Amino acid sequence: MSLLISFEGIEGCGKTTQADLLNTFLTSQGYSCLVTREPGGTRIGDQIRSLLLHSENTDLALKAELFLYIASRAQHVEEVILPALRAGRMIICDRFIDSTTVYQGLVQGIDLAVIDDLNRMATSGIKPDLTFIIDCPVEDGLKRAWGRIEIKDRTIDDVRFENKDMDFHRSVRDGYLSLATREPERIRVIDGNRERMVIHRDIASLVSEKLKGGGIG
Ligand code: TMP
Repeated sequence: MSLLISFEGIEGCGKTTQADLLNTFLTSQGYSCLVTREPGGTRIGDQIRSLLLHSENTDLALKAELFLYIASRAQHVEEVILPALRAGRMIICDRFIDSTTVYQGLVQGIDLAVIDDLNRMATSGIKPDLTFIIDCPVEDGLKRAWGRIEIKDRTIDDVRFENKDMDFHRSVRDGYLSLATREPERIRVIDGNRERMVIHRDIASLVSEKLKGGGIG
């Protein structure tokens, strides 16, 4: 059995930690897992990621940015995700289609129908079996994200988004919460404001239910 599971949320919400914990859990259950991310996940995708997140690239046009995220996704799906699905592996993806819907669509105003079409084209129509939105207050997420930047001294790359103001991040959070109400079967909102192993246990039990083939109640 193969599942595509994505993690979403605002900067610093803890999704990467949860993706790693889920990987450890599923591996311990005997599944072959792949943890990957967007933008990125391939050699070409990582180059697109640097372009997108470089702090000097503040003049990137909104539509150019959209196409770069979509380009990274198309490469990722063809080179990594589809082969892994065919091989029966578990794929855990740190950000996927919903990031574009929220960041470029709901927050920055690109027509959602256009984004749906581009996502469908980039993914050949595949969607995650399960998506976890790790929800936390913007202030907490940004504090964590900024802490990380100081720790790793990431002063050049990767800070462009984290520099955006609080209102932007609040609308990202609201966007995710509204998206979850549209597809409640696939998208689960997880309270990220708890101890990481408590959060992990919730996620592991939802994934286990999905693996048993039971409906997630
Ligand atoms: P990350 O390190 O949390 O993955 O951050 C990547 C940034 O890229 C984050 O600010 C969200 C942004 N992003 C989009 O705006 N659209 C997308 O489609 C994706 C995948 C990411």
